[in-house]
Amino acid sequence: MNLRFRPGAGAARLFLALGVIAALTGCRARSLLLRAPPGPDAHEYARRLGRGVNLGNALEAPNEGEWSVTIRSEYFALIRQAGFDSVRIPIRWSAHADAAPPYAIAEPFLQRVDEVVAAALAEGLAVVINIHHYEEIMKDPSSHLPRFVALWRQIAARYRNQPDTLSFELLNEPTDQLTAARWNDFLAQGIRAIRETNPYRVLIVGTAEWGGLRALPALELPEDDRHLVVTFHYYEPFAFTHQGAEWVNNSDPWLGTTWEGSPVQQQAVAADLDRAAEWAAVRNRPLYMGEFGAYRKADMESRVRWTAFVARAAEARWISWAYWEFCSGFGAYDADGDSWRQPLLDALNPR
Ligand code: BGC
Repeated sequence: MNLRFRPGAGAARLFLALGVIAALTGCRARSLLLRAPPGPDAHEYARRLGRGVNLGNALEAPNEGEWSVTIRSEYFALIRQAGFDSVRIPIRWSAHADAAPPYAIAEPFLQRVDEVVAAALAEGLAVVINIHHYEEIMKDPSSHLPRFVALWRQIAARYRNQPDTLSFELLNEPTDQLTAARWNDFLAQGIRAIRETNPYRVLIVGTAEWGGLRALPALELPEDDRHLVVTFHYYEPFAFTHQGAEWVNNSDPWLGTTWEGSPVQQQAVAADLDRAAEWAAVRNRPLYMGEFGAYRKADMESRVRWTAFVARAAEARWISWAYWEFCSGFGAYDADGDSWRQPLLDALNPR
């Protein structure tokens, strides 16, 4: 368990109540234990993810390096030493796999991913790998379903013998034609393909509609698969976090938007995360905020305030997180100057 996580009063009361019930019903608890599913516990795994960072703009660029980030193996030591528990590694497999069956992934690319995953695991970090920027599946889901499933069959087989600290996240930010209803079907098929070789590995599954909280109520998971962690991305208020973002239409008028941490602003974040935590508690699913961050065009003071507030608010609700991202436009680390942006790092991992 990550002891730095501090449940809020509500959560503390809930855990106390659960403890009392468990003590009073020892026999029943024992029989429940006997029936606990084999393999890693998804709640424990989510806690193990703790505080993380995304290695963004590297392996999910069309080719690594084209978005100015090439992962250096020493990054993982830096990340570990800075106090992080995990990394999320976004990967654009679709740019390195055949377009026709059997949709083979190019061996040199697989070897590059092997190398990066090994370097991260060697530092004792928990590692999430995903399918990222599979843009074609968003536009034409049904044509790409067989390829999506085939990609997961290959990735899962490749990493079947890796430690439990490696998890697979099915797809980054389903959107467009990959609606919430379709996504429920696709994720079930993806999970089935992975389970052929990895019956108990923890899998991470996100929401439709760009991975946001709005689509959480529509998410349906295979009820009997208890090795799942639910992920969502948090960029609210969007006009603050994405001001001036080149990839977001009409985001220039948002430039200058600040985040002061006023009671109203704090309450908005708290209410969002409360809704997520309630959804998860009812379904007994752990949560992971796999992306959150504010782009470099916002003022640094606001970014620091927002980042610290969102991170602590997540932790208070037992939600692990990964900051978006390590060393690019949202970067907590300045790769040119070889140094952390200390105020951002302190916001993420207070000393
Ligand atoms: C996308 C990135 C983007 C970030 C914030 C990620 O999921 O892959 O390209 O910078 O979200 O918008």
